[in-house]
Amino acid sequence: MAQAHLRVHLDEPVAAVSERLFGSFVEHMGRAVYTGIYEPGHPTANSQGFRTDVLELVRELGATVIRYPGGNFVSGFRWEDSVGPRETRPTRLDVAWHSVETNEVGLHEFAGWADDAGVEIMQAVNLGTRGIEEAAALLEYSNHAGHTARADERRANGRETPFDITLWCLGNEMDGPWQIGHKTADEYGRLAAETGRVMKWVDPSIELVAAGSSNADMPTFGDWERTVLAHSADVIDHISLHAYYEETGGDVASFLASGVGLDRYIGTVAGIIDEALAAQGLTKTVGISVDEWNVWYQSRFNEVDKPPLFEGGWNEHPRIIEDEYSVTDAVVVGSLLMSLLRNADRVSMANLAQLVNVIAPIRSEPGGPAWRQTTFYPFSLTAAAAHGTVVRCTVESPVVDTARYGEVDLLDAVVVRGDTELVLLLVNRDTAAPLSISVDLAGLAGAGIASALSVHAPAGGTRFSSNTQAAPDTVVPVPLSSAELAYGVFTADLPALSWSIVRLSTATAE
Ligand code: AHR
Repeated sequence: MAQAHLRVHLDEPVAAVSERLFGSFVEHMGRAVYTGIYEPGHPTANSQGFRTDVLELVRELGATVIRYPGGNFVSGFRWEDSVGPRETRPTRLDVAWHSVETNEVGLHEFAGWADDAGVEIMQAVNLGTRGIEEAAALLEYSNHAGHTARADERRANGRETPFDITLWCLGNEMDGPWQIGHKTADEYGRLAAETGRVMKWVDPSIELVAAGSSNADMPTFGDWERTVLAHSADVIDHISLHAYYEETGGDVASFLASGVGLDRYIGTVAGIIDEALAAQGLTKTVGISVDEWNVWYQSRFNEVDKPPLFEGGWNEHPRIIEDEYSVTDAVVVGSLLMSLLRNADRVSMANLAQLVNVIAPIRSEPGGPAWRQTTFYPFSLTAAAAHGTVVRCTVESPVVDTARYGEVDLLDAVVVRGDTELVLLLVNRDTAAPLSISVDLAGLAGAGIASALSVHAPAGGTRFSSNTQAAPDTVVPVPLSSAELAYGVFTADLPALSWSIVRLSTATAE
């Protein structure tokens, strides 16, 4: 069996793990909101019409921050449509997703759901069709404690105290020609800076996220960030990075190395931020907000799903990009989350896109059940365990040659040191064979294995196995039975194509 070795540098911290790395995203798109989180009449619906079966899964997932309400949707959204008495809220066309939006769920309803789910709201403003005035008005409506017309309108709509939303996205993917109100970097950078300035005059306590590139293959990638930062670095707190990955042309090796691609993407953006701050003589930091990341079979959407959607009639909450995730996808999602942790010194927050039904870890059927996709598990298990500080580790591993990223280690690893635990996140990128690993835990001779779990192909299944409504528990985490710890060395045989999490109790370690 191939062998790999991991050396853990306990005294070399990379960065503290921010809870904000475990964010997610609910867009008014497809069935994310309607028949996703919200379905009055569903047997589990609460008095506000939200599905409690989905709510319980959201809590179990461990999501901390939810970006809302878009996405492409936000670039045509009039927030005023979604507050006030429901019976007077207008039904509108959502041209981003060729859908009909009833505005039955708006800011007040979503905020109530977010409270129940125990998540922070990350609110996006429309910089596609709208601008400074509307963004500042929404902020005043949401956060102002005094008695202004906007704040009193919020009170009249049933909310006495401010929503106190801290995180605000200045538009969405404004570099993309598919975006309503698509802009050049100069146009957007200036608008983002001026909007952000006014928003901070309204409420200086907020944090602003400028829109970075939609993906690393955008022809404007790099120049976009430089220009946007030249306009806005003094005002903003974070710049976004969006990253979706998929397996194309049967190239599973490159797909499994997506985390390497994300590492490099983050590294490039971090370098551009540093240059921009230095050039402007700014001593502040600008974090990277990876506020959309996931596996997404975009080619299938563009070729198969999109034409009928956009050529067909206008419907409320049509089924859009309800990707069914496989074991392979779960391993990649786990490894992307590891990349975010590895870069925790630069990544200030991250949002798995999305939460329910739309390229989501949670699926639900109207009037029917809700269930966990394969990708649910690496996220929920990491979010539950990865508290503390990411510490540096070095990998010695056999490599695999990939078309996209060159030679890549078969072993991917991240280590998080907590007060009483050391958490090992481990991926075996070999699709055919297990990988025997040894981990030198220098200085932790007394540690014990608290738990060791793996996600891989189930017995009798394949790397394409998935969870469905009919068989929701086909792929679940199983014990990593080969895990052993003796004399300060952890060993295990990582199954072929697997993601694993090992929690070592260090409470009694030397
Ligand atoms: O998450 C789905 C879509 O992907 C979002 O609306 C958009 O921002 C991105 O292109």
